[in-house]
Order: sequence, then C-alpha cells, then structure tokens
Amino acid sequence: MGSLDGKVAVVTGAAHGLGRLHALGLAAEGARVVVNDLGVAADGSGRDESAAQAVVDEIKSAGGEAVAAFGDVADFGDAQAMIQKAIDTYGDLNILVNNAGFTRDGTIFNLTEDEFDSVMRVHVKGHFAPSKFAMTYWREKSKKDGAPVFGRLVSTASESYMFAPPGQPNYSAAKAGIVSLTMGLAQLGQRYGVTANVVLPRARTRMTMGGPTAAIFQKPEDGFDNFAPENSSPLFVYLCTPQAERISGYVFVVWGQQVKIVERPNPNGALFQTETAWNMQTLHEQLGPHFEKLEPVTDGYSVPAM
Ligand SMILES: NC(=O)c1ccc[n+]([C@@H]2O[C@H](COP(=O)([O-])OP(=O)(O)OC[C@H]3O[C@@H](n4cnc5c(N)ncnc54)[C@H](O)[C@@H]3O)[C@@H](O)[C@H]2O)c1
Repeated sequence: MGSLDGKVAVVTGAAHGLGRLHALGLAAEGARVVVNDLGVAADGSGRDESAAQAVVDEIKSAGGEAVAAFGDVADFGDAQAMIQKAIDTYGDLNILVNNAGFTRDGTIFNLTEDEFDSVMRVHVKGHFAPSKFAMTYWREKSKKDGAPVFGRLVSTASESYMFAPPGQPNYSAAKAGIVSLTMGLAQLGQRYGVTANVVLPRARTRMTMGGPTAAIFQKPEDGFDNFAPENSSPLFVYLCTPQAERISGYVFVVWGQQVKIVERPNPNGALFQTETAWNMQTLHEQLGPHFEKLEPVTDGYSVPAM
C-alpha cells in the first residue's frame, strides 16, 4: 500500500531531471500519473514527443500507471488538455506538481527581449495555466460534492528569487512571481480542500550542469552526494500525501540532508513617521541617519548569496 493509492497526479516537465523523479516517486506511492513534457533542450529550444513517453514506460515497467501528455505548460489549450487528460483517463485529479522550466541566463545588458519573455512565460505562465485548470476543477468538484476535495498543488521556485543573481534577472523575477502566485492559491484552496506550497530545490540536473554552476553541482568523489536530485524530490512527493494536509502556504528549501522553511518577509522593519506630508527634508532627517549605519546592497533586501 502506498500513501497515494488511487490518487491522480499531473507532473509538468516530467521527462528529465527533478520532474522525472517526482513522477516516479508519486507513482511509487501508488498515484496514477500524467507525465507532461514538451521535450525541449535545457534552453527551451526544440520539441520531442518521445521524452514524456519514456518516463511513462519507466513507470509502467515498475508496475505503476501513467500516461503521457505532450504539450507546452504555458499554452492555455495544452494546460487545459493535460488536466483534462487526468480526468478523462483516471476519473479525477488530486495532485498538480508544477515543475517545467528552463533558463536563459545573462545580465540585463545582454538579455534579449525573447530571452526575457520566454523565461517569464515558461515559469510564471507555465505555473499559472495548469494551476488555473486544476483549481477550477477542484472548486467545481467541491461545490458539486458539497465537501472538500483532496487537492495538492506544489510549485517549483528557486533560491534565485531571494539571492537575485545579476546574471539571472529573468529567472529570479519569474521565480519570485511563482512564490506570490502560489501563496494566493493556498489562500483560495483552503476553501476547497486544496493545499499549495512552494519548494526551492538544489539539484544536479542538465539545468545546473550546463553553465558556470556546473563545478558546484559535481558529484563528490566521496561523502554524501548533496546535489543528487534524489535528495530534493521526496519533499515534493510528501507534500502531496494525506499526511501533509496541514501544510499549506509555505516555502521550503530542500537539498542534501536538510529541509528548511523560508520565513515570511517581515513587513514591520524600521518605521519612519511624519506629522505632516513627507518632503525631501523630513525624509532625509529620518532616513539619512538610519542608512548611514548600513551598507548599500549588502544590508539591503536580497539575501546575500551563500
Ligand atoms: N536543478 C536545480 O538545482 C534547480 C534549482 C532551483 C529550481 N529548479 C527548478 O526545478 C524545475 C526542474 O528543473 P530541472 O533542474 O529538473 O531541469 P531539467 O531541464 O532537467 O527539466 C526541466 C523539464 O521541463 C521541460 N520543459 C521545459 N519547458 C517546457 C514547457 N514549456 N512545457 C512542458 N515541459 C517543459 C523540459 O523538457 C525538461 O524535461 C525547474 O522549474 C527549475 O527552474 C531547479
């Protein structure tokens, strides 16, 4: 008996890397899985219908149930079709793991309009579109049944949204968008039995092995292999289980042997007030002494890179 026996899951971008492991992990817990992928290269180029099918074959050969849904996560028609495929094939939908994505790195000086748009599109719209059709199904089902559904939504962001690396302005902005989007879904989903959380993984995949980060993510010659993607994937699966019913509206970091909860931003930092309307003089009287004691940027909002 698996913890997800009888449940139905959609995993986006499940042909490679983390998504493939999420699909295998959900299936190993008994879920029937719709394996979505567009079969693109690490920079989002190309298409390959056989990529998702290969993971379906892998799940089936291990005794699980799965079906492929070739399509683009950021296309409303394809996103609706992959959710519908779960309902038509297995009679329900319980789990959506939003995972698909790619990077096209560069500083603001070098990034083209297409490199900006395509990365924003695949991550932000690519989370929004499948979530829209999953949430709509869950709301309608809950209203029809007069009872909460079993709904689990897991989004994939990145620590880039906190570190804001200058070489990834498109990706870090997109991942910040995913966090805000998912926090709203968590609030909405509470009415219908749906949990929604965000996970920030660190893992050796073609995404991290293709650029300047490759050296960091190398497999060590000995000792624990911190960046093996197998260390990140179990949390995604756990958040989809019945046992995780009280976990919603959280952001986690996972890699190696640790799971961390990211604290909510504190909107109640230093407070400055005026008796009248602000002007340049009153602003500087109050803000000037405060910032004299602080370093620009390093004491600022983004988390210093570790
Ligand atoms: N690897 C890491 O350390 C790391 C860190 C933080 C966040 N992430 C995030 O994890 C997720 C998975 O990344 P990965 O490292 O496994 O990369 P990966 O390249 O191995 O896998 C990404 C998958 O998404 C698919 N995909 C891309 N565009 C798609 C589209 N439009 N429609 C459907 N499928 C599409 C690709 O074909 C591929 O199978 C991404 O959202 C990534 O941003 C990864």
